Amino acid sequence: MDIKEILIISAQSMWLMLPLFISNPSAVFTGNKKPIDFGKSFSDGTRILGDGKSWGGLVGGTLIGMVAGLAMAFVMRSADADVHWQFGASQVEILKNVFLISFGALFGDSAASFIKRRMKFKRGAAVPGLDQFDMIAGVWLLLMIFSWGWFTDMFISDGRWVGLIAVLILTPVLHRVANIIGYKIGVKEVPW
Ligand code: CTP
Ligand code: MG
Repeated sequence: MDIKEILIISAQSMWLMLPLFISNPSAVFTGNKKPIDFGKSFSDGTRILGDGKSWGGLVGGTLIGMVAGLAMAFVMRSADADVHWQFGASQVEILKNVFLISFGALFGDSAASFIKRRMKFKRGAAVPGLDQFDMIAGVWLLLMIFSWGWFTDMFISDGRWVGLIAVLILTPVLHRVANIIGYKIGVKEVPW
């Protein structure tokens, strides 16, 4: 594999992961006062997820990510682009994968909050490592469980795993940039 191939695979992998980079930050705008954990505490006496994880954020963020993903899918299908730029071969598969990517990001984000609350980190506390990779972990897990064939074709077979490494390297960078923007425009309390 030459450098050009590595760059193309990396670009395709980042493209297919784009809905997650949209759904996760969108939750900041669609978040409401209806916590996913209904305000309940876990057996350790601390909130299950906390007020930072709301139904509005989960549903709204997922929908916005899906609209973006479906628009991306439409563009690539219209352009008759290479299969590695596509979210699936059929409309059902496209819808499924776009949902898994969009929802998976917020699912991973909520799972991370569950872990953070167990570790007694307050809402909004920065936990390096978890904060940057929770959404990626959520997406990959859901794709591996519910869309194994597509996931392997896109991100594992024929050396395409190099794309996953590119995603792992670029995600913390994008995460940082998004949070600084969120802080500057006043939708996030802290720049991380
Ligand atoms: N948000 C939401 N619902 C979600 C995810 C995010 O309402 N499912 C909103 C909340 O207003 C949240 C903000 O987006 O405060 C930023 O998200 P995030 O940084 O993930 O939450 P934190 O406030 O840091 O909470 P936690 O410590 O649980 O991560
Ligand atoms: Mg946070």
